[in-house]
Amino acid sequence: MRRFVVAITGASGVIYGVRFLEALRAHSRDSEIHLIMTRGAIKVMRSETEVKPEDVVKLADRVYGEDELEAPIASGSFRHDGMVVIPCSMKTLASIAHGIADNLVTRTADVTLKERRRLILVIRETPLNLIHIRNMELVTLAGAIVMPASPGFYHRPRTIDDMVNFIVGRVLDLLGIEHSLFKRWGE
Ligand SMILES: Cc1cc2nc3c(=O)[nH]c(=O)nc-3n(C[C@H](O)[C@H](O)[C@H](O)COP(=O)(O)O)c2cc1C
Repeated sequence: MRRFVVAITGASGVIYGVRFLEALRAHSRDSEIHLIMTRGAIKVMRSETEVKPEDVVKLADRVYGEDELEAPIASGSFRHDGMVVIPCSMKTLASIAHGIADNLVTRTADVTLKERRRLILVIRETPLNLIHIRNMELVTLAGAIVMPASPGFYHRPRTIDDMVNFIVGRVLDLLGIEHSLFKRWGE
């Protein structure tokens, strides 16, 4: 059985996080999913989608609030196969970059880096200031993968769903999970 930690933070594009949870469920059925949703994520979810937080939590096996620093996932002894922060706010990126482990998302990300496990940060922000760029450099040097939510166009997307699926599929690729969420170049 594989185990994943998924964090949804308060950046625009929470739909990426919701779709990622659905896709992880569908394409890696026996995976155990641990979900953290920040207060910011719930605020943005209400503001830009019709999705209800109470339905999103049903997609995970375990759900935590950002203040639950005593949760098992906050410890390096909790073994998992990857943590994905999707979408990742610039505030959460900054905290991870500087080791400020003041909530369950940033603490679990910090521990994931220290244990040399896979950490994927899906950022949506644009344009970027120098602080964002420097923070992305720092987390990359520490071992994280920064993945901008910039959909390709070579698969000829027709709907928002097509574009969201492209990004979600690329994250699944990084975790080594088979899927058919978009048509690959040359296939
Ligand atoms: C509707 C809405 C949209 C937001 N969009 C973004 C965004 O795209 N990127 C970002 O970094 N912060 C965005 N924010 C601000 C974050 O939610 C805020 O910095 C928050 O403290 C992030 O905390 P968290 O990372 O712990 O969720 C947005 C806030 C609101 C209310």
